[in-house]
Amino acid sequence: MFDVKDKVIIITGAGKPDGQGAAEAKLLAEAGGTIYITDVLDETGEATAQDLGPNVHYAHLDVTSEEEWNRLVADIYGRHGRLDGLVNNAGVWLGTGILDTSAEEMRRVIDINQLGVFLGMKAVGPIMCEAKQGSIINVGSAASLRVGVYFWHNTMTAHAYTATKWAVHGMTKAVAMEFAPNNVRVNSIHPGPIETSMLGGDIEDIAASLPMKRLGQPSDVASTVLFLMSDASPFMTGAQISIDGGATV
Ligand SMILES: NC(=O)c1ccc[n+]([C@@H]2O[C@H](COP(=O)([O-])OP(=O)(O)OC[C@H]3O[C@@H](n4cnc5c(N)ncnc54)[C@H](O)[C@@H]3O)[C@@H](O)[C@H]2O)c1
Repeated sequence: MFDVKDKVIIITGAGKPDGQGAAEAKLLAEAGGTIYITDVLDETGEATAQDLGPNVHYAHLDVTSEEEWNRLVADIYGRHGRLDGLVNNAGVWLGTGILDTSAEEMRRVIDINQLGVFLGMKAVGPIMCEAKQGSIINVGSAASLRVGVYFWHNTMTAHAYTATKWAVHGMTKAVAMEFAPNNVRVNSIHPGPIETSMLGGDIEDIAASLPMKRLGQPSDVASTVLFLMSDASPFMTGAQISIDGGATV
């Protein structure tokens, strides 16, 4: 129903074959896009891109490096003369409360989950604003809508993860306002427990605890990404969309 024909799209943190980013790349490529999956896991990233077919390419990108962001965006724009979409998907989980989180761990999670999203939007913003079109999708979490959802990780708190995912939520709205006059849309998606290697704990218990009585699949997230990346959502910006089987209702 939706397509992204001819669009050139970057997805960060998409190197693992069973991750959400790879599922998004698969669906977006099937919908006509040229997709650049990026990660720090170069070997699995190359193999994942190979499996996903000729319209999916792998490029190394550590989202915490402004230099790497600028080089990647310049390369892709130089090759295609356009850049239509960015999914800021890279992220790391840390399940400790504030008293058990060191300043060093806090900085690492901020760098990847928060600074990485900031750098991504900053790197693609000038090209998209100049072109007067573009779609940026930032991956938050159910935990950036309601803090008391950590039952699925058998913990009631996850200080650094929560803080940085709420920052993603806030940055999305601020940048949506900034880019809106240039027709560049910025939205956030908020997955609940999705069956990837990031999800810890007892999978069956987690599924049973959710209103829909099942875990989310990477494909559940990918279809929302396709919708937001396509021209079917032209008036949507600054929105936060839950994909969590009712966890945050
Ligand atoms: N799985 C869940 O239950 C769940 C729930 C809510 C939100 N999320 C979010 O969804 C996104 C995707 O997670 P996933 O479930 O696919 O897990 P995942 O572990 O498969 O994906 C995260 C990816 O980020 C990459 N990454 C880590 N540090 C990086 C860096 N410095 N630069 C570039 N890439 C880096 C990892 O290598 C990995 O491939 C994350 O932002 C995560 O926080 C996941």
